[in-house]
Amino acid sequence: MKALILVGGFGTRLRPLTLTLPKPLVEFANKPMIMHQIEALAAVGVKDVVLAVNYRPEIMENRLKEVAETCGINIHFSLESEPLGTAGPLKLAEDILGKDDEPFFVLNSDVTCEFPFQKLVDFHNAHGDEGTICVTKVEEPSKYGVIVHKPSHPSRIDRFVEKPVEFVGNRINAGIYILNTSVLSRIEKNRPTSIEQETFPAIVREGQLHSFDLEGFWMDVGQPKDFLTGTCLYLSSLAKKQPKLLVSPSESYVYGGNVMVDPSAKIGKNCRIGPNVVIGKDCVIGDGVRLQRCTLLPSSKVKDHAWVKSTIVGWNSTVGKWARLENVTVLGDDVTIGDEIYVNGGSVLPHKSIKANVDVPAIIM
Ligand code: GDD
Ligand code: MG
Repeated sequence: MKALILVGGFGTRLRPLTLTLPKPLVEFANKPMIMHQIEALAAVGVKDVVLAVNYRPEIMENRLKEVAETCGINIHFSLESEPLGTAGPLKLAEDILGKDDEPFFVLNSDVTCEFPFQKLVDFHNAHGDEGTICVTKVEEPSKYGVIVHKPSHPSRIDRFVEKPVEFVGNRINAGIYILNTSVLSRIEKNRPTSIEQETFPAIVREGQLHSFDLEGFWMDVGQPKDFLTGTCLYLSSLAKKQPKLLVSPSESYVYGGNVMVDPSAKIGKNCRIGPNVVIGKDCVIGDGVRLQRCTLLPSSKVKDHAWVKSTIVGWNSTVGKWARLENVTVLGDDVTIGDEIYVNGGSVLPHKSIKANVDVPAIIM
């Protein structure tokens, strides 16, 4: 089987992290976001994965070469000379996606869930129409594409409304599709096209688009607040399904469970860590540190007695002694937070040194 992952866009909502790495390479639960998707695709027998890229392809190629080898799949980089939107890249990769009659998967690169690809294929084959999109329920549908059903049919979609201004429903497009190759002939060559605004409404008009309800958690982790929420959901799911990937709750520093620590990380004495914490490769945690609901990206340091909550600490950054970070604070690469400093939300751009308190959420450039 074949798949295309949309990895373009500039990931501006995940700045300052995306000033350093493209969004799909930012580690989510200690693995580049896109690795979670590639592994799940490989697990159901996908052999060809197209990465539709329009931004910094070289860094993506370098990092993903090994992944392809370990998963036993072919990764094809499809480079757009101008951003082609969310449908144009499918046409650009027509040679691969349309090489046989089997349907193909399409994924937004910033979504996380349990990726039930096998159930999705079975459902798609059973209804026999042109496309199936995964849907999930959310409380704030206005930031997503919303799906409205035909009252007479359990899965056939009646309307697809991208980012609705008025409430039309709370079942949304989860950014995961399986489409027949016939969809490719609906997309024009070399023209930026939106799958949400143009292609889906056209398929819906012909009654050929169905929805598949996702079980379990789902999150678009393309912005810091949702990245932290998505991490909590992912860790809770692991606690139920693969608890071995988490630190045992009986470990003395674990508090409230859902703690993932890379084996290379060092943790000091008398720390209290959790719930919902991810500690990356080569991180160093001092003594008496309190961490909750946060992600420490690789090679970051948290010094003695710091208190960190609802924060993403960027690669190679350092949090000083007795510092306090909270309220969706995001540190870019190589940031230094001084001893005893308080940061109340906002983002700090790479290579900055913070020596005064940040009392209200701000962007520190
Ligand atoms: N190759 C390529 N080229 N990829 C692109 C381009 C482009 O020009 N523009 C966006 N992408 C990729 C992004 O990297 C992302 O993986 C995906 O397309 C969707 O773009 P986002 O910018 O993340 O869209 P969104 O989150 O506002 O909305 C989309 O996702 C929601 C679910 O999270 C839509 O598909 C919504 O309908 C959906 O509900
Ligand atoms: Mg998104």
